[in-house]
Amino acid sequence: MRRETITGDITPEEFNDFSSRVASWIGNYFHSIEKYPVLSSVNPGDIIKKLPAEPPLQGEGFDKIMKDFESIIIPGVTHWNHPGFMAYFNSTSTGPGILAEFLIAALNINGMLWRTSPSATELEIVVLDWLRRMTGLHAAFKGIIYDTASVSSMHAIAAARERSGFNIRVKGMSGRKDLPLLRLYCSEFAHSSIDKAALTLGIGLDGIKKIAVDDEFRMIPAELENAISEDRKKGMHPFCVVATIGTTAVTSIDPVPEISEICRRNNLWLHVDAAYGGIAAVLPEMKWIMKGTENADSIVINPHKWMYIPSDFSAFFIKDKNILREAFSLIPEYLRTDDGSAENFMDYGIQLGRRFRSLKLWFTIKYFGVEGLISRLRDNILLSGKFEEWIDRNKNFIKMAPVHFGTVCFRGVKDGLSKDELNTLNEKLMHNINSTGKIFISHTKLHGYFVLRVVTSGIRTELRHVELAEEIIQQEFLKL
Ligand SMILES: Cc1ncc(COP(=O)(O)O)c(C=O)c1O
Repeated sequence: MRRETITGDITPEEFNDFSSRVASWIGNYFHSIEKYPVLSSVNPGDIIKKLPAEPPLQGEGFDKIMKDFESIIIPGVTHWNHPGFMAYFNSTSTGPGILAEFLIAALNINGMLWRTSPSATELEIVVLDWLRRMTGLHAAFKGIIYDTASVSSMHAIAAARERSGFNIRVKGMSGRKDLPLLRLYCSEFAHSSIDKAALTLGIGLDGIKKIAVDDEFRMIPAELENAISEDRKKGMHPFCVVATIGTTAVTSIDPVPEISEICRRNNLWLHVDAAYGGIAAVLPEMKWIMKGTENADSIVINPHKWMYIPSDFSAFFIKDKNILREAFSLIPEYLRTDDGSAENFMDYGIQLGRRFRSLKLWFTIKYFGVEGLISRLRDNILLSGKFEEWIDRNKNFIKMAPVHFGTVCFRGVKDGLSKDELNTLNEKLMHNINSTGKIFISHTKLHGYFVLRVVTSGIRTELRHVELAEEIIQQEFLKL
């Protein structure tokens, strides 16, 4: 006998009601975001304790879901969109991208093939070409959207490995006597995602050579050239260099023109990690940072890191897209099409299913316009300039690296303290600053010193927030 089942989605009337309540929750959230402590102060396990171990057997209704969202989930949220979020690289999102996410979820397309939503494939091609033009990248670059810079760089290094010609796609790497040790180069300040790509792709952490940096934390080209020739003498096979525009710790800029020349002479793939810094090239006065990228093979720029696009959104640009296809394309029978001339984005990476991410970049660029984005990005950089001036004027602090973008590295100083004591002091200072709940900053280590980082590239961060940060940092320093 057939049993009764409950089927179907919520009704259109319910959807209208609930969605307008969610929309108004979001509007109020942004309006009153400063009432929240920027860094969640819950302890590990606190949220788990508040959640039932078993899922509800019967639906609980929208009111209860929203009530639990506010009372259980929100206390465990660190507010990345808060103007006082000045840690890491502070991805912030804005209305147009958030609304696009709403539509992306509603359409719920999978852009694996051109025909599984032609608009997704074609908008991705066009909107990434807009971003390429906005950042002044060479016209030979073709774009692909991945979720994160880590995954973009992994695909770059996979493409480089494919071009090295050892047919690893078919034969793999293990147990092969004909395969020399593949060698990848990046600076000591390259992001850990490069190491992760190496360990994912069978290059191994030992297959990476970290190149020393100069006193502005930039890769030293002569050291790179030496390392390549030393490795060759040892029978290794250099295949790829990763240069960074805007390193995570200090936002230093590797000398891409010189590095690209070394890559050309040695026939090495050049990938540029411009995940954070690359966005600044939207500004006419910052185009210089992209110098030399015209000779690179691939580059990653993350609009979710600094162009106010809701996570996740990483823009990967590559000159020879076919190499990626050669590395990754596998077409099972059920995905075969006779589209012929159409692009099928599933061919360019490990994932089959693809979200309609291009819609959120399109909405954001269309809504603000290139000029609107330029003025917002310029503001972010000006604010870090203001903070830098304050550090330079303040005898209690010392700047630790040149400031190029929206990030300032500094540390507190006190006469008569050893390096270890200074490190303890700065760590405590950071802890106390973050405990105020007003701002959230992060740290790095430079020359063995514990260094604080203040990032002003959030869309809601204004001069008054930077001034508040100065006040809090000064007050907390004087208490130590
Ligand atoms: C320079 C750089 N590259 C790559 C990444 C990794 O970014 P994602 O979180 O998009 O993988 C980061 C993260 O901060 C970064 O700073």
